[in-house]
Amino acid sequence: MSVWVKMQADLAMLERRGLRRHGFIVESPIEPRVTVAGVRMVCLCSNNYLNLANHPEVRSAAAKAIAQWGVGVGASRLISGTTSLHIQLQDALAALRGTEAALVTSTGYAANACAMSTLAAAGDLIMADKLSHASVIDAARGTGAVLRTYHHNDMDRLRALLTRLRPNHKRCVLVTDGLFSMDGDVAPLIELVEIRKQFDAVLVVDDSHAFGVLGEGGRGSAEAAGVADEVDVTIGTLSKALGAMGGFIAGRRVLIDMIWNTARPFIYTTALPPVMCAAALAAMEIVRREPQRRQNCLRNADRLRQALIQAGAHIGGSTTQIIPIILGTAQRALEMSQRCFKAGFLAPAIRPPTVAPNTARLRVSVMAEHEWNDLKRFVDLVAAAKA
Ligand SMILES: Cc1ncc(COP(=O)(O)O)c(C=O)c1O
Repeated sequence: MSVWVKMQADLAMLERRGLRRHGFIVESPIEPRVTVAGVRMVCLCSNNYLNLANHPEVRSAAAKAIAQWGVGVGASRLISGTTSLHIQLQDALAALRGTEAALVTSTGYAANACAMSTLAAAGDLIMADKLSHASVIDAARGTGAVLRTYHHNDMDRLRALLTRLRPNHKRCVLVTDGLFSMDGDVAPLIELVEIRKQFDAVLVVDDSHAFGVLGEGGRGSAEAAGVADEVDVTIGTLSKALGAMGGFIAGRRVLIDMIWNTARPFIYTTALPPVMCAAALAAMEIVRREPQRRQNCLRNADRLRQALIQAGAHIGGSTTQIIPIILGTAQRALEMSQRCFKAGFLAPAIRPPTVAPNTARLRVSVMAEHEWNDLKRFVDLVAAAKA
């Protein structure tokens, strides 16, 4: 069988199992309502939690940056791709996160690759929560270190594994998402900080979904847990609450300098365009100035969570703006997603391998400006589907 015939057969098999991915084509800016196939729909699947991706101030900052800098930088960060906007953004991120330094990368995916490849190598041990984002796991796999995953948020299991494995390795890195992207629950950071000390490990938190949303100042899950100064490395993205594009690593100056000098995913790629730095900076200013955005987002989510529970939905351990509706088989999740689509809600099915088998789901992400009437209609739909 030729490579292409085999590929066709593999795709057909994914289709038969309800696992083939198609995606929607969106025809408008990402806001609480979007246009798909000419129809206005309620968007329940965007990470633009604070509705900043199309905010007038963010747009205007981006337009000004394009007028001044053009679109691309045409070089990697180490050659001539570092502009004064990159430095300004890095300083602002480090100040907000309270770290010595920060480094901006092209994506959050790359930020994980840069950090992990600098922190661990052959002979080291990486312990990752089983539900860590794919970019965390891929980054860890690429290091040559031993990678072990522990059951989701199970600190007893983590301690037991570390007691057995830690003595055989040089360095140890503990890595977890701060806010889990498919489940909407948070990591037990207070315990992780203790474990990090007990086992002489480095604690890395991927806070992509919490940055801008959780914590009094929107600084993320460590701020919310009261351990902001005890997380060694924070990974973040500019593409979710900040509504822009790009990633960052915040931590000690020595780590940032080492990434700058040695991390292949940092060195051998073109720098993030300055327009994205300008957009992220403008968005950060709004996050600082308007705490009500994150408060509204979390309030909307609380209300939706309670209503979904009352409607009999299985929402797992969600405590944040990400709310899964766990349905089981991929087919059930697809059917529910299609039902939502027909009723005017964009809520794609999340299926294996993104989530574990038999936990296929709709993943609802709540935005600050979702209207309760829309969310209520969605709850009614979920309730009707259960009946
Ligand atoms: C937890 C987590 N980490 C990292 C990423 C990657 O971020 P980016 O989309 O900026 O590459 C994502 C999102 O896709 C994510 O959910």
